[in-house]
Formats: sequence, structure tokens, C-alpha cells
Amino acid sequence: MTACFVINGTPYNVDLTAFPADITLNTFIREHAQLTATKFMCLEGGCGVCICVVRGKHPATGETRTWAVNSCLTLLNTCADWQITTAEGIGNKRHGYHPIQKRLAKLNGTQCGFCSPAMVMNMYGLLESKGGRVTMEEVESSFDGNICRCTGYRPILDTMKSFAVDSNIKLPEDCDDIEDFEFVACPRSGRQCSGGCHKKPLTALTYADGAQWYWPHSLTEVFNALAKVGNEQYILVAGNTAHGVYRRSPDIKHFIDLHGVPELKQHTIVGEKLTLGANLSLTEAIDIFQKVAQRPGFEYCEQLWRHFDLIANVPVRNAGTLAGNISIKKAHPEFPSDVFLSFEALNVQIIIQELSAPARSMPILEYLRQPFNKAVITAFELKAYLKGRFVYHSYKITPRAQNAHAYVNAAFLLDMDVTAWGIVNSARLCFGGINPDFVHATATESFVIRQNIFDKEVSAQLFSLLSEEVVPNEVLPDPSPAYRRSLACALFYKTLLKLAPVEKVRAEYKSGANILKRPLSSGIQTFETIEKNYPITQPVQKLDGLLQCSGEATYMDDTLTTSDTVHCAFANATRVGANIEQIDASEVLAISGVIAFYTAKDIPGTNNFCDQAFEYEPEEIFCSGVVRYYDQPLGVVVALTSDIAKRAASKVKVIYSNLPTDTKIYPTMADVFKEQAMDRIKWSTAAQSNSLQLSDQPDISARGVFEMGGQYHFTMEPQTTVAVPFEDGLQVWTATQWMDQTQCVIAKMLGIRVNDVQLKVRRLGGAYGAKISRGNQVACAASLAAYKLNQPVRFVQSIESMMNSNGKRWGCRSDYEFHIKNNGKIVGLTNTYYEDAGCTLNENPIEDLTPVTAKNCYELNDSNSKIFGQPVITDAPSSAWCRAPGSTEGIAMIENMLEHMAFEANIDPADARLVNLRSGNKMGELLPGFLQSTEYRQRRKDIAAFNARNRWIKRGLGLAIMEYPVNLVGQYAATVAIYHVDGTVVIAHGGIEMGQGMNTKIAQVAAHTLGIPLSFVKLEYSDTINGANSEVTGGSLGSESLCFAVRKACEVLNTRLQPVKEALGKNVTWQRIVAEAWTRLINLIASEYYKQGDMRNYLVYGLGLTEIELDILTGNHLIKRVDLLEDAGESLSPYIDIGQVEGAFVMLLGYWLTEHLIYDRQTGRLVTNRTWTYKPPGAKDIPIDFRIELLQKNPNPAGFMRSKTTGEPPACLAVSSIFAVQHALQSARQDAGIAHEWVRLGAPTTPETIVLNSGTQLSMLSLE
Ligand SMILES: Cc1cc2nc3c(=O)[nH]c(=O)nc-3n(C[C@H](O)[C@H](O)[C@H](O)COP(=O)(O)OP(=O)(O)OC[C@H]3O[C@@H](n4cnc5c(N)ncnc54)[C@H](O)[C@@H]3O)c2cc1C
Ligand code: FES
Ligand code: FES
Repeated sequence: MTACFVINGTPYNVDLTAFPADITLNTFIREHAQLTATKFMCLEGGCGVCICVVRGKHPATGETRTWAVNSCLTLLNTCADWQITTAEGIGNKRHGYHPIQKRLAKLNGTQCGFCSPAMVMNMYGLLESKGGRVTMEEVESSFDGNICRCTGYRPILDTMKSFAVDSNIKLPEDCDDIEDFEFVACPRSGRQCSGGCHKKPLTALTYADGAQWYWPHSLTEVFNALAKVGNEQYILVAGNTAHGVYRRSPDIKHFIDLHGVPELKQHTIVGEKLTLGANLSLTEAIDIFQKVAQRPGFEYCEQLWRHFDLIANVPVRNAGTLAGNISIKKAHPEFPSDVFLSFEALNVQIIIQELSAPARSMPILEYLRQPFNKAVITAFELKAYLKGRFVYHSYKITPRAQNAHAYVNAAFLLDMDVTAWGIVNSARLCFGGINPDFVHATATESFVIRQNIFDKEVSAQLFSLLSEEVVPNEVLPDPSPAYRRSLACALFYKTLLKLAPVEKVRAEYKSGANILKRPLSSGIQTFETIEKNYPITQPVQKLDGLLQCSGEATYMDDTLTTSDTVHCAFANATRVGANIEQIDASEVLAISGVIAFYTAKDIPGTNNFCDQAFEYEPEEIFCSGVVRYYDQPLGVVVALTSDIAKRAASKVKVIYSNLPTDTKIYPTMADVFKEQAMDRIKWSTAAQSNSLQLSDQPDISARGVFEMGGQYHFTMEPQTTVAVPFEDGLQVWTATQWMDQTQCVIAKMLGIRVNDVQLKVRRLGGAYGAKISRGNQVACAASLAAYKLNQPVRFVQSIESMMNSNGKRWGCRSDYEFHIKNNGKIVGLTNTYYEDAGCTLNENPIEDLTPVTAKNCYELNDSNSKIFGQPVITDAPSSAWCRAPGSTEGIAMIENMLEHMAFEANIDPADARLVNLRSGNKMGELLPGFLQSTEYRQRRKDIAAFNARNRWIKRGLGLAIMEYPVNLVGQYAATVAIYHVDGTVVIAHGGIEMGQGMNTKIAQVAAHTLGIPLSFVKLEYSDTINGANSEVTGGSLGSESLCFAVRKACEVLNTRLQPVKEALGKNVTWQRIVAEAWTRLINLIASEYYKQGDMRNYLVYGLGLTEIELDILTGNHLIKRVDLLEDAGESLSPYIDIGQVEGAFVMLLGYWLTEHLIYDRQTGRLVTNRTWTYKPPGAKDIPIDFRIELLQKNPNPAGFMRSKTTGEPPACLAVSSIFAVQHALQSARQDAGIAHEWVRLGAPTTPETIVLNSGTQLSMLSLE
């Protein structure tokens, strides 16, 4: 059957049966329409890079609407009546760019750019859906579904808020208005396509594999379809977003699309009853609640919409429906559904109709607990509750501000005695996230009847009862039962605080009533620019900014290949410690669409993706013996589609031998220490030769342990390789930070010459160290398949596969002891630290990166400080360098000790630092000035006063300072070519642009050196010809090294052009000089390189101050303000450097506060391996007031052109966030009457850590 899809005004007529029945819009857009602006990563609605906008008719109202969707969850067959718009459809190089695209580029809202097209489309969808009228608050809340790992969001939010009706964002002068936008016209009609390409509406379709699609247009037709289902699996397709939570069964045979069924999409309000069609989207429900909240009896709908606004994220709410959500809860009772919880507390009735049976109304809980046969939920009925008598409160406590499911959610409906406020007539107290069976706190519900809940004794009994009946289950990765139980009580306590008459509540307790309210965020960026050096030091727009915002910028998977391209997925070993005896892929190879399966035996050369030439120990591409970690790749399945490859990979059978029966698995270093498995600790640094010599008699001595977990890099572009056989070799488009090593390992694996493998890298969609060597495994597997099959091969690793089998930041533990004087002066310290290597010692920071930062800028020498590092081998993928590797830990360890010292000496942490600074150190100048400009002392006082007035909300201030050594190494090659025809310049080099702005800085340097406008310079692909033998782009070293190489090449060209310039005299154009040079047969191409020693090493300084606000009852936080002073020397490109500082800091905020890697101790499996469970910061997790200053009048005598690097050092300052937590927490502990004791915080310090260390006891949940 032919269907027509309209994308960007262009109709695509396709034979649906040529695709799988469950093909997504994303796959169609990318692979068949070949529009690559719409990306994918998580494929589960959690990252947002796949967002596009759809426009269609509402089946019930007939109104045409526009909304943003996750194309990765939208099934193609539901799109036939819609117009689909992608980023390249709203603006591009041919038709001009859309104002959103232009502004995002202009305000420097892109770095790697992988998230940018979807950011644009999310905003476009928002503006279109709201008729162009949005407030800044709406805008800031609407980016809950878009993760950006690079920018730290501030410039993105500024851009988007600039379109709001109440915008106060200052824009550069040449920013276009939104009205300038014109839609791309349909090439066929020349007009905007109305989406009416369909002659006949779709009805039903049978696929070759027996799958069926139905497009019913009434409830009756839905049941007609259901009647045909028989005993086969079916799905009622609403938003298809449940697939983002629990994967849809691959065995579904019948797809019944509900989009065209008006009965399920309407709502009515009659008298005291609001009836909602079952498949209204969550967004539609929110809109209805907002309107209905104005009606007497439905005021509670205000609370309802605010709660629903925290479910998932904008595109998921736009597509996901009420009935879909309740159906997840029915199938998975453990699911902490917010819809169910809210509706159940409100005693909402559900209307159910079964095949050949009349509709029935019942309580939702009854529906969940009874079996039904082919039932359709048709509606929900909400009743009115008299305001003043009924009280409805609900809560959702999550690991990050938005787009996270609840740890615990709660909804309470209380029928109060209006004549005796406090007496409860009846109560519905519902909790989610406790255990699969727990909904109502029934004992507490009964207890409160006719009790005065404001009475001291009653409330004490109430909490004791509640805490007894709330029995959370212990299941990973949920937080501990103790925390969840405490949350349940705290949430009801909040309601009590809110409801109680003012005079009954102690003043200090009142602020505990509410959840933290986040105001709009803003930022200030201060930097210096030196006009005489322009375009160097000029705050220019990122070179590829516009291309990134329009989606025209290409990434590895955007490389177009021929239609015979095949796809890959890893098959994995899961028995850690066992030996792979035999691999049986016979079942896999029999699956339709599977083409091949390769293991170590198929590798013609070496089974190794890390080469000794690069100082790596070998790591197997495919495990061939003992399994080192859970999900270690053992082979690769090659199939016609990526979905088939993934599904088939799970069917590979493995026979293991030497199954370890009593061997314990140690997936993390914490497990090693817990079990005292000391043989896992490898001594590597110099032995502890002589003992510590104290420089004076100490007044205070103390010990501590400081633990930091790993961190997943979370690049938005997955590990990706496209390998294409070319003549007698391979062309490989691969996402690597180190072409040299990747090229080497591919060649050695295939046993071919290195010059037969040519790599091309246009740009990376984020790397942060993940693509230095970890991507080589995918590159090798894809290259092997391409080589064997002589066919183009595409391998994009799935998020689960990346998270399971790619190494992460080295976790770290510091066992320290310090001896100080009463004023905090250190007389001696020891720090024995351990870093989590994973299964090999590759990318080891222990001997260089950590020790060089571990003394920071303090007066520590080899006799008064003993600092030793040791790697610990664990049963996890080999750990990898991750943004500021080793130095994050080095600075954090010493800064943590300084905080601890100040705590023990009872002095201000800033004073502890001041008294210990190395004499003559630059920090001696910087720190006092920073304390003054940030009003540090006054703010400490203000915080002390605030904390004294507030029992449950506490504030804290955390300081971190840093001296960061930059050691320039290796060699980097670059080629600069001038075209004689028009004088334009092209540059290719051996570095990798991955968002750090390398190419922009290089272009600025080239323009400056050649004396030409920046617009004349273009950067091309990095490749292994112009960039042969180049060092890794990492450690923040690439940009300046390549700038050096390019300047050298430009100087060579200048020297060659000099005689021409002299001959032509003054006032002659660049183009004329170049043309003349060509006629004189002068070589206009120069290749040069940077080599170690060409520039001197240097130190980078940075200071960070973080103010945090904690809700002691829930553990949630707000970062109220952050000040960063960063030493960028004379910044080559201030916008780029500001972006690096903000982005690095926010990435590490995630490390310290939200990102949690949790493993199953029995199997070694990572259980937080999806966006559903692993939470990098979102747009509302960043500092509310974010102030960045690049140190001014501060030329660097070493390095490149007086500048300093910015990519990694600022990451080290984010540890200030947990010092702020400690400060706030200590106040709560003091209030709780706990003895003065340092709290062991580390990475991550989650809400659970905060609550469980706050000293709060049940008995403290009182009103007075
Ligand atoms: C990233 C992400 C975050 C999320 N966060 C949260 C959260 O914080 N809190 C929360 O509560 N939820 C959350 N969700 C879940 C989300 O609310 C649901 O995915 C959504 O509501 C499901 O609706 P749908 O229309 O997409 O259902 P679909 O995926 O289309 O269908 C799901 C199931 O419902 C059945 N179904 C659909 N309509 C009917 C009907 N009328 N009658 C009977 N059966 C029907 C289908 O047969 C199918 O089995 C999240 C989801 C994602 C992807
Ligand atoms: S790919 Fe669709 S949300 Fe991540
Ligand atoms: S710019 Fe947002 S993920 Fe890189």
C-alpha cells in the first residue's frame, strides 16, 4: 500500500510494506528521506536530539495544531495525515536561515552542535503551538527533553528566551525577528504543502511477515480491528512513548492506531464532572486542567497541571497519552506513574470497554488489579471537590529538576472539617515508588479520620504509623528504602506545614512547606578583547554555528552511503570471570535480515583495539577467552537494519567454561574495599620511601576518606563508524579523537598496510575523552564487516551498549590524614589515593595527571606531604580519560582536605586556603580579589542568618581554587592552501573539532596571520593524509597546538608571498597578490606542524564559588549562584572560551550531584545504563545566576599567543558544589543536635545522601 508523507513541504510516496511495520519516523527521515538534521542517540525519548515538529488535524475538534515530537518514538505509520518539519525545513543555505537558527548561532549556543537542530525544533514547535506568544518562564521550562552535554545550557536558554514576549535578553543588533520567517515551499506545487497528498485515508494493511496495521476512525472500528487480533499480540498505538520506558515486545503482530479516533480525544465538562477522552495527550490534559482550574470545584486542577508538567518532557507529553500511561502502570505495577497516582488520590473513575461488552466505569485501582480481555480505556471521569473543604496536594521528588521519574511521588486528598480546621473527615493518601503493591497508606488513612492532624501527639502518631506502613522494597537502581520511607513521611509533613494555621507552625519550620521554587536563570559573562589583534581575541560566532543550527553540519552517521549499506550490533558476554568456550550463532544467522556474524576467529590480523605504539596495553575487540566485565563484546552481528542487528545480537548463545562459583564480582572500587580484595590494588607509583616529616608541631590532626565514582561521558553523538570498501582498501568515517591510533588498529586488525585505511572526521558530536580509544572497538568491528563483506557498513552503538561496554571516568578514593595548626596551616599531610582502572591500566591518570594537581597551589613539599596513587583493577570496562581526567580528582582531593581542615579548626574555608598558599603563587593575588568581588564574607554571614531562621531549607557556600598545569606534548600537522582564483583559504589538519571551537580559533589565527578577513577561511575534514601521525585531540591541548601549526604554515606562505607583495606595492588586494603569485608559479600550499617543545608549558588558574539551597526534607537542591574566575590568558576567542568554561563546569556539576553509576553486585551489570536511570544535568539544573569572568590583563608568557586553554581546567571547580552542600548540611545537623562531625560527601552527592546525613528523625517532623 502506498502512503504519502509530507516532510518539509515535500511529499514522499512510499510503499509501506517495503518497511518494517514498526519503523520510526526518525529512521524514515534519516535513511529514506536522507534528511540528516534530525539526529538520534538514546531512542527512548530521553535525550531529545531527534525532535522534529508535526502539524495535523485534531480528530475531535478538527482544529489544526502543531507540536514537537521525538521522532525516535513516533511510528511512521501514524504520520500519514501530518506535515512533518525538520531543522533543514525551516531554514537552510538555499532558502536562508530561520531566526531561531541564526540567533542560536549568534549567541554561541552550539558547541559540538549535535543537539542544536533539535533545540531549534523544540523552540520552533513551542512558538508554533502557542501562536508565537510565549513567556520566558514557559520557554525555560520547555527544554526539559533536550540534553546538551557541551554548553551548560545558558546560551541556549538566552537564545530561546529572547523570543519570549517578556524577554529581557540583550541581543546583538543584526538579529532577525521571527516574522521574517517564510516556510519552505512544496517543490511540486510551489506553495506550502497542506499535507493533503493522501487521496484515500489509510484503513488497514497486511505486511509480508503477517503484521497488521489498522487505522480506525471510530471506536467501533477499533473494536472491529480488535476482533481480528485473535490470540496474537497487539498494541493500541497512541503516542508509542511507553516504548521509551519499557521496550515494546518484538512479537507484536497487530498495530491499531488510535490517532484518528475522535471519541478518545475529546473532553467534556458537565456540572460536577470533567470527562477526559482516554487518549488525550498529557499536554492536552495540562491545557484542559489550566482552563478548568478556573471553575468552582475544580481548583485542584491547578495542582494537577503543575504535577503533570513534571512528567517526562515536552515532546513525550505532546505524544504520550493518559491511557498509555495508565496502561504502563497496569503492565508494570512498579512503575511510579504520576498520572495514576494523581488520579487515584482524586478517586478518578476509569471507563473501560471490552470487546462485545458495554462500557463500565470503575476506580482505577480496580482496573489495574483485574484481568481484562481486549479492553479499551475510553475515558476518565474527574469530579468536583469543594474548595475550602477538600485539600489536594501532590509531590514528585526526582534526581534532577526535570525529565526524571520519581524516587517517590505522593498525592493527598483530605476532606477537612470546615468548622474545626484540622479535623479530617476522610483522607486518600497515595504514594508511588514504594513497592509494586503499595498505593494507599491505608492504616494512616483510617487513623486520621476525625483526628486533629495539627495536634502534636496526633501528628507524632501519624508519622510513626505512616513510617511503619510504608515499606519500600530494595531494588536497584532505586535509592535505599530508608531514604524513600523518609521521603514519604517528609512529603506528608510538607502538607501538614502548608495546611496548619500560621500560629501553629514555628516560624523556622514554615519554609519547609513548599518544594524549592526555581526562578528564571540568567548569566553574566565578562571578558577582555584586544581590537588591535582582531580577529584574534574577537568574540566571533563559531565557524560552523549556523550549519549546526540548521542541521546541515554533518556527523559520522550523516555520511551518505549506497543502498547496500548494512548495520551492526555487538553480541556480548555476560558471565564475568568465565571462559568463552563456544559461541553458537546458528539461531541468529537464521533470522531474516541477518547477514553475518563475526567473532575473534574471523579477524585476519590482531584482535586488539589499543596499540602498544601508543603506550596502551592490548584490549580485545571481541572477547576470546576470560570475560573481563559484564556485556563485553564477543562478536558483531551484521544485518539489513540496525533494529534487526540489535534484536539478533541478544540471541547469540554462549557456552562458558570455568564458571566461577565462589568468585566475587567487583564492578567498582567501592566493592573492592568493602570486600577487602586487596589483591586488586596494583602498586604503581613510587613506593612510600621515607616517612612524613611534619614542618611544625600540629594542634589538630584528623583523617578522612573521600570517594568519587565514575562518570559516563554521555556524548550526544554515539560511538559511530561508517566503513566503506574503496578500491583495495577502506575509507572510514569514524568518530575518533585520535585518527592515528584508530587507523593503526584497523590496519593491524585486518593485517593490511596502514596506507590502505584512510580516515575522515568532519566533526564529533561531543567526545570528552570517550572517543580517544573507546570508539576503536566499534571502528574495528565495522571495518572488519566492511572488509569481509566488501560492502559499506554502518555501526552506531546503542546507549545501553555504550554504557555497558565503554569505559568511564576513573573513580577515585582518597584515604587522607592531615596535621594542622589552629589557624589551619598545614604542617603535614598524607593522601593515599586509589583510582578505578576497570579491567586494564590503559589511560591511567595515576602517575601524571593526578599527582601534578594533587598539591594544587599550596605550600606542600615532598617532606611535609606524602601523596601516593594506586590503580585498582575492577570487573568493569577499562576506564577512560574523561574531561579533566585525573586533575578533577587531584584538585578535588586536596580541596576536600582543605575544607575538612577548616571544619576541624573551626575557621572559614577561605582562610584555610589563604594561610596555606604557596608563597609567591599567583593565587595569592587572585583569591583575596575574588573573595571581595563575590562578597564572600558578607554572603557567609547572610547565609548563617538565613540558616538560623530556617530549619528545613538551608543554604551553603562552597569555594574551590585551582592551579592546573598544562603540558603540551606530541605533534600535530596542518595544511593551509590558498586558491589563486579568489584568494580563499582552506585548512585541513590532524586535530578533531568536537565542540571545543578548535576550528574557529584556527580560522582566526589564519586570518590574522595572512592578514585576510575571517570569511575567507574555511576548515575542511580532518583526515589521515593532511593530519597523518597527529597526536590525540584531548587534554585541552589540540586547539593551541593546531593554531601553532597553522600559524607556522601561514608564515611560510607569507614568506613566499612577500616578494610578490613588494613587487606590487601598497594598496593592492589580497586576491591580486595571490593571483600574481600563481602566475609566478609560487606554491600556495604549505604543510607544517607543531611539535613538543615548540611552546612552553604553563599553569592555568581558576576560582569558583557556588551557593546552594537545600531542601533538607527531600534532599533536592537549587544552585542559586555560581561565580567562576578563569584564567584564559589573552583569550583567542572569548565566546568559545566562555562556552568551554560554562560547559565544563556544568558537566562536572552532573558528576558531583546527579550522575550515578550503579552496578548489580551479583552479575557486574550496570543497572543505570539508559537515560531513564542515568541523569546528566538538564536545563533547570544549572546555576540560577551564573557569572563567568575570564581573567583580564593577563597575557600568558608561554603557550600560544598569550592565550591559555579552557576545555578542561574549569571542570575542576565544580567540586565547590559539594562543599556548599556540606556547609548547608552542617547547619541542619546542628539543628538536629548532632555532634560536630565532618560528613563524607563525594561523587555523586545525591538527594539520598543529603537526607540520610541530615540527622532528621521522625520525631522532628512537628509543627512546633
Ligand atoms: C523519557 C520518558 C520519561 C517519562 N517520565 C514519566 C514520568 O516522570 N512519570 C510518568 O508517570 N510517566 C512518565 N513517562 C511515561 C509516559 O507518560 C508514557 O510513556 C505515556 O503516557 C504513554 O502514553 P502513549 O500514548 O505514548 O502510550 P503508548 O506507548 O502508545 O501505549 C502504551 C500502552 O498503552 C496501551 N493503550 C494505549 N491507549 C490505550 C487505550 N485507550 N486503552 C487501552 N490501552 C491503551 C497500548 O496498547 C500500549 O500497551 C515517561 C516516558 C518517557 C518516554
Ligand atoms: S533519540 Fe529520541 S529522545 Fe533520544
Ligand atoms: S552542543 Fe549540545 S550536545 Fe554538544
